[in-house]
Amino acid sequence: MQYTARDRLRFLAALGALPLSACAGGGGSTPAAPAPLPAPPVPPPPPPPPTGSTATLKQVFATEFEIGAAVQTAQVTGGGVDQSLAEAHFSSFTSEFEMKADIISPTQGTYNFDPADALRTFAQANGAKVRGHALLWYRTTPGYFTVGTASDIRDKLETYIGEVAGRYAGDIYAWDVVNEVVSDSGTDTYRQDDWFQAVGQDYIDWAFTAARAADPSAKLFINDYSTEFAGKRGRLITVIRDLLDRGIPLDGVGHQFHLSRGIDPNQVLAAIDEIDALGAGLEQHVTELDISVYNDPPECFASGVNCQTGYGTAPSDVPDRVYQEQAQLYRDLFDGFKARDSVTSVSLWGIRDSQSWLNNYPVSRSNYPLLFDPDGDPKSAFLAITDPDYVI
Ligand code: G3I
Repeated sequence: MQYTARDRLRFLAALGALPLSACAGGGGSTPAAPAPLPAPPVPPPPPPPPTGSTATLKQVFATEFEIGAAVQTAQVTGGGVDQSLAEAHFSSFTSEFEMKADIISPTQGTYNFDPADALRTFAQANGAKVRGHALLWYRTTPGYFTVGTASDIRDKLETYIGEVAGRYAGDIYAWDVVNEVVSDSGTDTYRQDDWFQAVGQDYIDWAFTAARAADPSAKLFINDYSTEFAGKRGRLITVIRDLLDRGIPLDGVGHQFHLSRGIDPNQVLAAIDEIDALGAGLEQHVTELDISVYNDPPECFASGVNCQTGYGTAPSDVPDRVYQEQAQLYRDLFDGFKARDSVTSVSLWGIRDSQSWLNNYPVSRSNYPLLFDPDGDPKSAFLAITDPDYVI
């Protein structure tokens, strides 16, 4: 349809941009130039997120990434301080242990979904997401999985993943499909665990393929620790490249980042950068972040010797300089996570210091690795990542 000049003028008049008279004239004089359209109202800028101890983590990081925490279902269904903190601060939750096979299916063909279901219900009631952890982890694999022929083992794994990932299809935004499958030693690429001993690395393919089939909406992650160390990271990248080259469905990399106070933040952030450099467009989740207040030598983790002596059972037993160092490291890391678009989720491995697994690993001693103290009060580490003006 061809529009005449008159049609166009009528259209502008209808917009109120022109006096109607300009459309009425039959000809003759050139119509006056249309008045400029009134500028559309400019919406006010969103208020800046609050900062400091009045801020909530999910407010501060709302436009950056999911901010999550590992929880035990009892912590968020008991109405206590943990539930209050969970509801206020986190947009994502990871089951600390109740979504693992040793809890869900301790014997073949039996399933106990109650704790995991309750966590899903809690998250959904609070507008939060759930990170699934973990469909396969050698440390929580009941023995029945890895006995029998390769075909038997594959059937059991595919059945289990189909049941679990299928049950939560659409409700879990990301799964740690396999956890800690990379060797810690330089002699092997793959961890020489029961799975690998039974069927070689094929189980990793089977797990990812079964997870994609069970829940096409979930992002599928390979998750591991010590990716901040080049050797472990290099072996992980070998595994990742192999999976990608063979078209195995993989969407992202989970970095546990269980850190010691003395580590250089740039060494940690290099792990994110090196995965980005693969150019595969992989999402990256920080999945289990905590920063021990101790700075132990390697033999402490390897065999529990030469570990630093515990500071004491009261948070005030820890020197202020230690908390300052921890807070600065948290600030540097979160600044780095915010600067990297591939980081789409950052989860702490717990809410309050008193619940951390690090109170029992690598030795039993009080640790203070998280953002909230045993009473649930925000620490300097919390203020350091929520308030850029906070002086550490
Ligand atoms: O709550 C029960 C208690 O009622 C029972 O009496 C007791 C004895 O059976 O068990 C308690 O549950 C324990 C649970 O931790 C809570 O303390 C489980 O047995 C125990 O297996 C579980 O350990 C978890 C571990 O993974 C194994 O699933 C830890 O909480 C959890 O922090 C740890 O998390 C792992 C990540 O999944 C992977 N990365 C390393 C990280 C630390 O090991």
